[in-house]
Amino acid sequence: MKIYPSASYQEPAGISMLPVRLLRLVTAVFKNLDEQFWRRRGLIQDWLELALCGIDPLLSRQRMAAEVLQVLNETPETKTLVLRPPSRWKGFTEGQYLPVEVDINGVRMRRCYSISSTSQQFRRESLISITVKQVAGGVVSNFLNHQVRAGDILYIGDAEGKFTLDSSLPGRKPVFIAAGSGITPMMPMLEALYAEHPEFAATLIYYARNRQELIFSERLKRLEQRYTQLSVHTHFTEEEGRVNKTHLLRDCPDIGSSEVYLCGPEQFMATVKSELCALSDVAPQIHQESFGSAHSMSAECQDIEASVSFGLSGKVVQSGGDKSLLELAELAGLQPKFGCRGGVCHECTCVKTHGRVMNRLTGEVLPDEQEYIQACIAIPVGEVSIGNW
Ligand code: FES
Repeated sequence: MKIYPSASYQEPAGISMLPVRLLRLVTAVFKNLDEQFWRRRGLIQDWLELALCGIDPLLSRQRMAAEVLQVLNETPETKTLVLRPPSRWKGFTEGQYLPVEVDINGVRMRRCYSISSTSQQFRRESLISITVKQVAGGVVSNFLNHQVRAGDILYIGDAEGKFTLDSSLPGRKPVFIAAGSGITPMMPMLEALYAEHPEFAATLIYYARNRQELIFSERLKRLEQRYTQLSVHTHFTEEEGRVNKTHLLRDCPDIGSSEVYLCGPEQFMATVKSELCALSDVAPQIHQESFGSAHSMSAECQDIEASVSFGLSGKVVQSGGDKSLLELAELAGLQPKFGCRGGVCHECTCVKTHGRVMNRLTGEVLPDEQEYIQACIAIPVGEVSIGNW
């Protein structure tokens, strides 16, 4: 069994010499210590954590270890990892994402992936899935696609995100619009919706580059055949071009008065939103989710030289304009908090004490005096200091 991160846990000297029974007893006792105890970080907790992980990484109490049970090929560039989270993992609502942590070349990296299975499956089998598409330059997504095998261990966090269907049905007819791996949160949302309300009318409009890159083609087919109230429209951009008003109106003539759930790359979502605004006098009701890895770097960012000093840790890194403050901090070996990595959740907010940054999404250079910034979308410009990292 390969364990990621494999270098994080080493057996304390001599622990392998302890009788197995004693270890089991210790395991049973400490596995049940309350959350408070484990939340306090000290030498005792750290030693016990080492001991538990030495026995089995799945017993970790300071991190949540999930075993990879299966790796399924969805498309040539996309894989689904079926995971068994620990029993204390809190569960999720369809549409939420899962933080996943791995160590790659000595750097701990955390990324978020939409959960692609349903909560019903989790209640029934205690399993969840994430579906990960390779991304050019995407270190973690490529690692998960190429390196991870059944039997490996990944470290996960609690499910997060507000891109979910309300517990009550949407007020207006829902239209789901996705591109590429934007389908991953929507697939379980649709399955959950129709498991409870087969009579409900909804539309899915899904863009993929070509037929081979259509993710969940079998699941979509099953859903469409089973629920006649669901209308599914797939578009292949290599044949039909990008999303446009004609497609949207043809697939859903009353889209202007619908409730839209939107997920995909930034550029795709921006186009859909502007088309929807042009189609209706009333502001469209849009729920959206974006992927940090999908943000395209503005050409202006590419040549921006910068030097960033992190005040608390004393680390200094150089930047060529192709990385956000969050990515630079991670490269420096820091472990800042983050969530969406796409400028939505504000989890990554840090304190800038000096210098200027450019918003990666809009190209806007923020004023020098702006102290609190979202590190995941901030490209440093010139000399920049971050006080709290
Ligand atoms: S991580 Fe969500 S805004 Fe930066």
